[in-house]
Amino acid sequence: MRTQVCIIGGGPSGMLLGQLLQRNGIDNVVLERKTKDYVLSRIRAGVLEQGFVKLLETAGCAERLHAESFSHTGTYISYGEEIFRIDFVSQTGTPVVVYGQTEVTRDLYAARESSGATTEYNVEDVVIEGADGDTPSVRYSSNGQQRRIDCDFVAGCDGFHGVSRRAIPDNVRREYEKVYPFGWLGILSETPPVHEELIYANSDRGFALCSMRNENLSRYYIQCSLSDSPDDWSDQAFWDELRRRLPSDYADALQIGPSIEKSIAPLRSFVTEPMQWGRLFLCGDAAHIVPPTGAKGLNTAASDVHYLFHGLIEYYETGDRSGLDRYSETALRRIWKAERFSWWFSSLLHRYPDQTEFDRKMQIAELEFLRSNTAAQQAMAENYVGLPY
Ligand code: APR
Ligand code: PHB
Repeated sequence: MRTQVCIIGGGPSGMLLGQLLQRNGIDNVVLERKTKDYVLSRIRAGVLEQGFVKLLETAGCAERLHAESFSHTGTYISYGEEIFRIDFVSQTGTPVVVYGQTEVTRDLYAARESSGATTEYNVEDVVIEGADGDTPSVRYSSNGQQRRIDCDFVAGCDGFHGVSRRAIPDNVRREYEKVYPFGWLGILSETPPVHEELIYANSDRGFALCSMRNENLSRYYIQCSLSDSPDDWSDQAFWDELRRRLPSDYADALQIGPSIEKSIAPLRSFVTEPMQWGRLFLCGDAAHIVPPTGAKGLNTAASDVHYLFHGLIEYYETGDRSGLDRYSETALRRIWKAERFSWWFSSLLHRYPDQTEFDRKMQIAELEFLRSNTAAQQAMAENYVGLPY
């Protein structure tokens, strides 16, 4: 088989890139290790930056988002009984959009299917060859048969556990990592959200987050130990612990119900450099991970896709490779800033096992500064709504 861009991974990065290329007449194939149903069963964050929404519009996939999403003009931060709001619109002129990542992926799959573009599911043993030359190819097996795709470029969109990153030789690749000593236990429940905007809660017992998908679907998280398993937490134990971490007015207003999903995610900051090697380009989780505090996972993937898409368009329309050649440098500049924000916001809100009383006082002082200082609020808001591409 031959295509212009072979995309490895059918998560949101790969599907968004594929759809943008497809709409612009650039032929591409997506190779996905799992089934479509599996990909669409993963529950992820649900806060989108405007830059992401614009990309979805460019990809022709924003219709349902515009009909069903919610615009949030600010967010709440609590510590103990104290609570304050950061107003994104007065600070930056821009709100964020609440719409589940699973729904974004569903819309991208629907658009790809109606465009007739090729997506191969259940592929195994993907191997990238010749990315450092002019004629790369991707080998894989499907239903026990060996296949090969010759292409101009390979987009490695296969997430943190994929093969693309490791195709960059060890002596070229440098990885930076911070693993946090706790996880997030999250539940989805068919209950009205406790509040109309998100609440990020710092408490003596650890972090909590009140988020949502719609008027009757709530997403809540509590910081938990890495050794916990979701089975250790009954729904009742989860709700009790969440209440203890919220200011009492909100704890009292919390409506509870059975969980329809419950899972634990570890927290990690990770960046690989460079994000390109010859004709191989990494996008999204294949190249970097952020802790979920601030919901930058999908949004950082989107800026990679934006830069790569524009580099490819420029190349195919004018033969100019300079955008592609600068991809890693351009993408990483924004990625590191999003890494910094996610790390900072995580550090501000969680209890760390080795935290001293002094460290705790520093967190509270920083929260009080943020509460009272417009410049600090503006800096937070600019990062939360998304730095420019
Ligand atoms: N071959 C083919 N597909 C693969 C391979 C492989 N060897 N390895 C992984 N994949 C697939 C996975 O099954 C997954 O569907 O690549 C996809 C990667 O998707 P994500 O992990 O969602 O990564 P990405 O698309 O970059 O999304 C970035 O979305 O999933 C969230 O936490 C993520 O918020 C972040 C954002
Ligand atoms: C979510 O809704 O799942 C969510 C929202 C905001 C975050 C993280 C997760 O910072």
